[in-house]
Amino acid sequence: MTRRFYVTTPIYYVNGAPHIGHAYTSVAADIVARFRRLAGDQVHFLTGTDEHGQKVEQAATAAGETPQAFTDRISADFRAMADTMQISYDDFIRTTEPRHVSGAQALWEKVAASGDIYLGAYEGWYALRDEAFYGEDELIDGPNGQKLAPTGAPVEWVREPSYFFRLSAYQDRLLELYEKRPEFMGPSGSRNEIMSFVRQGLRDLSISRTSFRWGVPVPNDPEHVMYVWFDALSNYLTALGYPDTNNPLMAFWPADLHLVGKDIARFHTVFWPAFLMAAGIELPSRIFANGWWTVEGEKMSKSLGNVIDPRDLVSEFGVDAVRFFLIREVPFGGDSDLSRRSFIHRLNTELANDLGNLAQRTLSLIARNCNGALPEAGARTEADTHLLAQAELLPSLMEEQVGRCALTDALEETWKIIRACNAYIDHQAPWALKKTDPERMGHVLRVLADALRIIATVLQPWMPESMDRMLTQLGVSESERSFAALGVALPAGRELPAPKGIFPRYTEAEDEKGQ
Ligand code: MSP
Repeated sequence: MTRRFYVTTPIYYVNGAPHIGHAYTSVAADIVARFRRLAGDQVHFLTGTDEHGQKVEQAATAAGETPQAFTDRISADFRAMADTMQISYDDFIRTTEPRHVSGAQALWEKVAASGDIYLGAYEGWYALRDEAFYGEDELIDGPNGQKLAPTGAPVEWVREPSYFFRLSAYQDRLLELYEKRPEFMGPSGSRNEIMSFVRQGLRDLSISRTSFRWGVPVPNDPEHVMYVWFDALSNYLTALGYPDTNNPLMAFWPADLHLVGKDIARFHTVFWPAFLMAAGIELPSRIFANGWWTVEGEKMSKSLGNVIDPRDLVSEFGVDAVRFFLIREVPFGGDSDLSRRSFIHRLNTELANDLGNLAQRTLSLIARNCNGALPEAGARTEADTHLLAQAELLPSLMEEQVGRCALTDALEETWKIIRACNAYIDHQAPWALKKTDPERMGHVLRVLADALRIIATVLQPWMPESMDRMLTQLGVSESERSFAALGVALPAGRELPAPKGIFPRYTEAEDEKGQ
C-alpha cells in the first residue's frame, strides 16, 4: 500500500523580504518531500506565509500600504523565492485566505468546547519582534537597565482583555508525550531544552488581542483577534481542509514531519500539541528543529546590511550549488556559517572534483571508446562486486538517515561511494585497458555507469537540476529514476548523449587562499 507522507515548512512572516534562513528550512523540507516521493510515497508538501499580527500591520503602515496589499506583495515574493529554490510544494497557504480563516475559527471553537479557553485580562510583557509573551523571570537586562526578552527582543508592558488557553493544565500530558514518544521532537539538544522548560511549569497562554485589528476574528467576539501563533499553527490543518472531514486531503493528517527553526520549536512542541489535545485531534508524528545561519561569522541583520537573498547566490552559482551547500556545511540541526570562501571551496572539491570529474571521466571514456553507447556488463571481479554492493545499499541506508532528518549524514554516505568510485577508476585505469583489454575496459565503465546511476538517483532530492542532467547523460529515462526502478538494469547498447560537464570550478576561493 502506498504510504502517505505529510511534511511542512514553517509559514513565513511577511514583514520583511525572504532571506537565506527562510530558504534553508524550505530546502530541507523539500529534500525530505522529494526523497519520500522517490521511495514511492504519496507526499503532500505544504509551505506558505503567515500574514497576520501586529508586526505585519506595522510593517504595512511603514511601507505606506494597506495590510492586504502589503501581504499580497511580500507573500508573492516568498513564493517566487520558493520557486527559484526549486521547492516542490504541493500547496502554498496564506493565512489571509478564507479557507484558512474559517478553519482557524473552527479549531478555536473546538478548543473552546473542551472548556480550556476562558476570558480574562492580560497584563505582562510582550515582545513584538518575537510575537511572544514572556514572564518577568525570563527577562534579561539590556543596555541602560532596559528589560529584554531572552531572545534580545525589546519588550513592552501590555494590558488588555484577552482570551486565555489553559496551557497550565497540559504540563503532565506534554511531559508524558515527550517521554513516551522520544521521536516526537529532535534534535536532542532542542528536546532537552523544551522538556526542562515544560518541567518548570506552564502559565496559561493569552490567545487573543484587542489592541489591533489585523488578525482572524475570534468566533462570537469580534472585538478580539486571535493571537498570531494560534492562527499560524492551525495552518497545518486548515490547508488540508479542516474542519471538513470529507476533504480527501484530511487523510494526510497527522503530519509526519513539521520542520521548523530552533527559535520556533517551543511553539510547535508545547503550544501546538496542547491545542490539538484540547481539540481531540491526533498529534503530528515528529517536529524537527534546524539551527541558524550566520554570514561570515555575523548574525544577519538589516542594520549590518548582510542579509543574504538566496536568489543572488543562485544567479551566481546555480540553485543546486546553494541547496547542496546549505545542507552539506554543518550536520543538519546545528548552527552554520555562510562564508563565501568555504562555499566556493566545497563546490570545487566536492561537486566539481569528486562528483563532476567522476561523471565526466566515465562518460567521456564511454563516448570515445564505446561508440557513445552503454557498454555491456561483464563477469564481475571482486572489486566490481564490492563497489556495486556498497552503492546498492545507498537507498535504504539513506532512507533511515532521512527518516531521522540526518540530511547531512545521508549526503556523506553518498560521498563515501563517490570516493570509492574515484579510487576504483584510478585503480582499474580503463584508459590503459583500451589497448590491453578493451572488453574489460567496457565492463569497468559499465560498473561505473551503474554506480553513477545509483548516486545520481539518490542525490536528486538535494540537487534536482544537475542530477536530472546527469541521469540524462547516463541514459536513464524519466521513468527509470525512482528507487524501485533501480532494480531493473539498463539495456546495454543504449545510446548516450554527448557528455557535458555538470559542475563548473570557481577560482576565487583558491586565489584567496593563495594570498
Ligand atoms: N511565522 C512564524 C512561523 C509560524 S509556523 C506555524 C515565523 N516566521 S519567520 O519568518 O520569522 O521564520 C520562519 C523560519 O525561518 C523559522 O523556522 C526560522 O527559524 C527561520 N529563520 C529565520 N532566520 C534564520 C536564520 N538566520 N537561519 C536559519 N533559519 C532562520 O517564525
